[in-house]
Amino acid sequence: MKIIKLDAIESTNTFLKNMVSSVVVDDFTVVVAKTQMKGRGQMNSEWIVEEGKNLTFSVFSRFIDLAVENHKYLNFCVSLSVFDALKTLSIPSLSIKWPNDILSENKKIAGILIENMLKGSNIVSSVLGIGVNVNQDCFPESLPNATSVKKIIGKETNLDTLLNDMLRRLKEYITLLDKKEYATLEKAYLEKLYKKNVPTMFKNSQNILFMGKIIGVSKSGNLQIELENETVQEFGLKEISF
Ligand code: BTN
Repeated sequence: MKIIKLDAIESTNTFLKNMVSSVVVDDFTVVVAKTQMKGRGQMNSEWIVEEGKNLTFSVFSRFIDLAVENHKYLNFCVSLSVFDALKTLSIPSLSIKWPNDILSENKKIAGILIENMLKGSNIVSSVLGIGVNVNQDCFPESLPNATSVKKIIGKETNLDTLLNDMLRRLKEYITLLDKKEYATLEKAYLEKLYKKNVPTMFKNSQNILFMGKIIGVSKSGNLQIELENETVQEFGLKEISF
């Protein structure tokens, strides 16, 4: 495994994607940055962190036979590796909010941005971007739902140790994915899914509120919600908030 450590760059995901388009990059090459000037989040959001306090890294992963319709299992692998590593730090009430926010006590402690390179209907490689709030003490008022490992457990965590643990776990989960152990991955992910089977208020893309219960993730990776009339509807990332 090759780990490239940088002080300041725009975004580790952008850096790795540019690298992949110009040179041959080894499988499981990792880029870690102390700070990102243009860190990117889901749905074109920004990912802003305090310099040197948190983990911001991306992993390049090649696939031989990963059909696009199985992309949800790759998301499960990344989410589970971050979740499991944080679990060892005795962080209370950890959960995975669909699709891949890691929460502790309902606040976001880590986020994931997966960018896939496709050939026909197969994912040939992916850049797996992970941001973990580790030693940040305070967050801007604009991020009331953000937290960090330090805020929760009250002490600093060594960034390299946590990074190595996450990478080891990610490798193990991706081995399961290569072996097509889909049921194992699905079970592990659903066990940790935030609000699963709990009556919850959702807002759809027309800002209409409704009650329902998360029951799972569909084949295409959408969230499956059982409505009050007991029918099940699927929602994509842009179609729902909760
Ligand atoms: C989100 O929850 O919105 C996803 C956040 C992903 C942030 C990470 S930090 C490392 C990598 N580089 C980026 O620019 N983004 C991801």
